[in-house]
Amino acid sequence: KNIVILISGRGSNMEAIVRTFNQEKWDARLSAVISNRADAAGLGFAGKAGIPTRVVSHKDYPDRESYDAVLQKTIDEYQPDLLILAGFMRILTTGFVEHYTGRMINIHPSLLPSFRGLHTHQQAIDAGVRVHGATVHFVTPELDGGPIIAQAIVPVFPDDNEDKLADRVLEQEHRIYPRVVRLIVEDRISLNEDGSVNLSPEV
Ligand code: GRF
Repeated sequence: KNIVILISGRGSNMEAIVRTFNQEKWDARLSAVISNRADAAGLGFAGKAGIPTRVVSHKDYPDRESYDAVLQKTIDEYQPDLLILAGFMRILTTGFVEHYTGRMINIHPSLLPSFRGLHTHQQAIDAGVRVHGATVHFVTPELDGGPIIAQAIVPVFPDDNEDKLADRVLEQEHRIYPRVVRLIVEDRISLNEDGSVNLSPEV
């Protein structure tokens, strides 16, 4: 399987996936890491890890349609079986999303369907919830609304702030995201035609 990873910044989830890939020697190829920002810190790690890196800057295109078209063309040069969004901070057009139906996944730092969008940790604190977490899901045109594959839960403490809570959630992201990718590589997770998630019995 060919895997392409999209990032916009730090890339710590990408890094967790690359490290686990190298440790566990999955039957897959990390074909490329692509960023919409040239200054994404994660590009350095990916390059050192020997993965081809590309930058497709959204600033070079006048609108979402033209950007997504070029991004899609760049991604498809690598013939991906799996497209991983790892902190890719762009809203994607429906056409782009539909092109990758069943082969594009994302990690969102909340227990979906709670707290879609940005500032999820502050949203959780403001809502007064006692548990929070992260969700890996297939991407559908509805923002942060795709079929859920896996979730991890963390406690929210009375003295939490956004940063402390973000760190606690991120640790769990780094645990579940590589695990989900591995299971997809092993054909043990897939998206059914009806939009439900197919998990093989052992998962
Ligand atoms: C993560 O919290 C991820 O869930 C969210 O953006 C953050 C990206 O972090 N979508 P990183 O770039 O993977 O370090």
